[in-house]
Amino acid sequence: MKLDISNAPHHLARLGEEWWRSAVIYQVYPRSFADSNGDGMGDLPGITSRLASLAALGIDAIWLSPFMRSPQKDAGYDVSDYMDVDPLFGTLADFDDMVARAHELGLRVLVDLVPNHTSSAHKWFEAALAAPEGSAERAFYHFKDGKGENGDLPPNNWLSLFGGPAWTRTTNPDGTAGQWYCHLFDSSQPDLNWENPKVQEAFEDILRFWLDRGADGFRVDQPHAMGKAEGLPDHPDLARAGAGFIEGEASPPMWFQESVHPIFRKWRAILDSYPGDRAMCGEAYVLPLSFMALWVRSDEFHQTFNFRFLNSEWQAQTLFNTINESFEAFDSVGAPSTWVLNNHDVLRHASRFGGLKVKPTDSDGVGPNDPQPDRELGLRRARGATLFMLGLPGSSYIYQGEELGLPEHTTLADEYRQDPTFFRTNGARVGRDGCRVPLPWESGVGAANGFNTTGKAWLPQPEIYAGYSRDQQEGVEGSTLELYKHALRTRRELGLGEGSFEWSPQFLGENVLGYRNNHILIVHNFGHEPINLPEGKILASSLHGMKDGHPLVADQTVWLQLS
Ligand code: NOJ
Repeated sequence: MKLDISNAPHHLARLGEEWWRSAVIYQVYPRSFADSNGDGMGDLPGITSRLASLAALGIDAIWLSPFMRSPQKDAGYDVSDYMDVDPLFGTLADFDDMVARAHELGLRVLVDLVPNHTSSAHKWFEAALAAPEGSAERAFYHFKDGKGENGDLPPNNWLSLFGGPAWTRTTNPDGTAGQWYCHLFDSSQPDLNWENPKVQEAFEDILRFWLDRGADGFRVDQPHAMGKAEGLPDHPDLARAGAGFIEGEASPPMWFQESVHPIFRKWRAILDSYPGDRAMCGEAYVLPLSFMALWVRSDEFHQTFNFRFLNSEWQAQTLFNTINESFEAFDSVGAPSTWVLNNHDVLRHASRFGGLKVKPTDSDGVGPNDPQPDRELGLRRARGATLFMLGLPGSSYIYQGEELGLPEHTTLADEYRQDPTFFRTNGARVGRDGCRVPLPWESGVGAANGFNTTGKAWLPQPEIYAGYSRDQQEGVEGSTLELYKHALRTRRELGLGEGSFEWSPQFLGENVLGYRNNHILIVHNFGHEPINLPEGKILASSLHGMKDGHPLVADQTVWLQLS
């Protein structure tokens, strides 16, 4: 089989000098990064104390998942005060210290902004519950009367992404049953009404609050969910009334409404009014990518996560199509593509690629009773996949722990689970806890391998994590950590992030993909047969011990400087 490149895009060097066009951004999941006070929960001082090791990794920026005040019903994606730090993670002064240290080390800091919903413990929602129907307080959210004679049926057929209906009925102060409110996620995460100018103004203040404190920008949670079709009509197809949508179809009533774009334009203008090239990345789950391109027009988001890439089967034809689609879509609006293989919502790629399920879209997780991944195979493929990704021009995202080759915790006992998905589906979906386990730093230090010194951990590490600890890999030739460091250093030296892209026709087939970025050839072997490479100097290899002149073996990626 030959892959057809007659219509494949040829991506030229990046269009602007801005840092975010080529940055490698590292996602810090604060509760699991480093714990300074030993309470089992990672915190901001813990992050500050370990920032030097991130700078040494060679990244450009960090994005911190939410650390604002929150009852933590969805690990902080349920914010009860957007302008304060949750005491679990420290104080605003700790945030300032963290930003100062990051900037000292040359790292930028992106803050997670959660605008689609608040926590049900937010004062806006509490005021709404206490206020009468039709009040200004209720207009902050989507309150509606129920259907049926007594209003005891939900107002429409929408489903929560975490399982069950997207509506919960309230109880009036006098104890009678009241209106329903909409929540596309957990019932503790009521959706805000973005048609309300007061909501819009409140968020503009929140943006300014963090920008004033030195944040370099935002990762924006679920921006595609913020707008809702007028009147909140039923989804035409009940089977897809939750997360699903058919690509290219007219907008479903709860996803990617046109009304949100003017909001992002305002936000962009706010960011632009600050010095220092602030940027925002939208977690816009919008497909096909030609639709997503509309979200990164020059006056909207700077970047969006490329979920097509994240969800691609690790297979030549699929990836070929994905990369073509990416350059076509993003180049059409002058935005960089992002590339991403992991985050806190999906199975870690070192497990995903271990023969389990190659398609991680669903965030269902893997539990002790499920088939277990092949760790060795998974890691070998994950290393190959990462090296293939880091050679692509544009901006790349790395999720904490992948630089250690960490596998998912796939044997976590149910008693520890915290993800609302697990509870809302009565355990049918184990959820995302397995990719959120605290990081191992120093093998054998406390029971949590240096995550702290007390050994307490909000989720226990599996025993195998000791072997993946950072200290076991630092300076060790061939370790995954050293592979990431080498790749990031080389990427920077060669300017690959701001480079060009074209397929290398010689290396396109059922089991191989090769492309050129500037003068570097990057090839991955998806099959089992060794592939001969042209003469040249090996600059990086996902398998340790690769020598010039060796053929490329299964699951391996190389970066080759052609002679
Ligand atoms: C996307 C976040 O990444 C995920 O962790 C969260 O549960 C949902 N948005 C709801 O905020």
